[in-house]
Amino acid sequence: MTGSRSGPDATRGPARPDDSPPAASDDGRPLLEVRDLVVRFDSDAGPIHAVNGVSWSLAPGGSMAVVGESGSGKTVGMLSLLGLLPNTGRVEGGEAVFEGRDLLRLSPAEMREVRGGKIAMVFQDPMTSLNPVLSVGYQLTEGLRRHRGLSRRQARARAAELLDLVGIPDPHARLDDYPHEMSGGQRQRVMIAMALSCDPSLLVADEPTTALDVTIQAQIVELVKRLRTELGMAIVWITHDLSVVAGLVDRVAVMYAGMLLEEAPVTALYAHPRHPYTIGLLRSMPTLDGPTHTRLPSIEGAPPDLRTRPTGCPFAPRCPWVVDPCRVERPSLEVVSGEHRSACRRWRELDALEAMEASP
Ligand SMILES: Nc1ncnc2c1ncn2[C@@H]1O[C@H](COP(=O)(O)OP(=O)(O)OP(=O)(O)O)[C@@H](O)[C@H]1O
Ligand SMILES: [Mg+2]
Repeated sequence: MTGSRSGPDATRGPARPDDSPPAASDDGRPLLEVRDLVVRFDSDAGPIHAVNGVSWSLAPGGSMAVVGESGSGKTVGMLSLLGLLPNTGRVEGGEAVFEGRDLLRLSPAEMREVRGGKIAMVFQDPMTSLNPVLSVGYQLTEGLRRHRGLSRRQARARAAELLDLVGIPDPHARLDDYPHEMSGGQRQRVMIAMALSCDPSLLVADEPTTALDVTIQAQIVELVKRLRTELGMAIVWITHDLSVVAGLVDRVAVMYAGMLLEEAPVTALYAHPRHPYTIGLLRSMPTLDGPTHTRLPSIEGAPPDLRTRPTGCPFAPRCPWVVDPCRVERPSLEVVSGEHRSACRRWRELDALEAMEASP
C-alpha cells in the first residue's frame, strides 16, 4: 500500500465501501488486492460476523499494519486469505487477487503452493509453531529440501545463511539446537528465518512481538525493517499496539468489529486521525514524556457483539461524538486526502469536536 493513489476516484471524494485504494507499483498493479471480504463463523447461537466487507490493497514491497482491539477480525481476515480458517469459519464473499489470481478460489494444492512459496506467515508464539522434538536445523532444512529440491548439505548451508540473516550468532552450531534451548526472541528469529526460506513476496506477521519483552520486541521490529529493505518483500504487520508500527510500515489500517474504519499513511494517522476510534486508540497509547502515575485512558464501553451485524457505524455505541444517522447507516470509507480514508461521517468536524471537548 505504498505509493500514491493512482485511481480516478483519488480526487473524487466519497468512495464506495467496496472501493480499494489502488496501491501503486512499477507496473501499477498491486501485489494483493482484497475486495469486500466477508467472513463468518457458525456457532450454536447463530452466525458470528467476524469480517464484514473489508477492502485494502498492498503494492509490491509495500507495508501495512493492521491495528485494532482484540476480536476486531485482524487475524481471521488474514487467515481467510490463506485458506487457514478453522472448520467453523467460511469466506462468504469478496475476492483477494494476489499476483493475478484470486486466493479465495484456489484449489487446496494451489493454496499450499502459495503458502509454501509466495506468502509466509509468522505468528505470536513461536513455541506453538515450532516442533519441540525436532532440531531447529531439521525444521529449517525440511522445507528447503522439499520445496526447493536442495540436497541435505545445500539445505543445511542455506539454513545457516538464513539464521545469520536473522541475526542469530554462530548459526552453524545453533542448527543442532532444539527450540527450548533458544530464548523467546531467538525462537521468533527462527520463525522469521523459516518464513524467509521460501523467498516470499509477502510476509504476514501476526502479533510477532507480543510475547516478547520490550527490548527484544524492538530488536525484532528492527530486524523486520532491515529484511524488508534488503529483500524487498511486502509486509502486513498485525498488532493491537499502535506504538509498535511507527517507523516499521508505511500505512496503517484500523479495524473494528470486522470493518475498516480508517486507513492512512502512518504519519498522517498519528498527526491527523480522522476517526473517533483511532483518536481513542492514540489517546490510550503511553507516551514517553507523559505522566507515569496516571492511568492510561481507555476507550469506554465494550466492542460490539458480533452475533448481530451492526446496521450503522459499529463504533456508534462508544463514540463520544455520535449523531443519530451514525446508528442507522453504515458510513462508507471517504477519501480525506491522498491515501487517507475514514469511515466517519463527521471526519471534517473532528478538530472542532476535540477542541470543544478540551475547553472547560
Ligand atoms: N474459531 C472461532 N470460532 C468462532 N468465532 C471465532 C473464532 N475465531 C475468531 N472468531 C470470531 O472472530 C472475531 C475476530 O477474531 P480475530 O481472531 O480475527 O480477532 P483479532 O482482531 O485477531 O484479535 P486479537 O487481537 O485478540 O488477536 C472474534 O471476535 C470472534 O468473535
Ligand atoms: Mg489476532
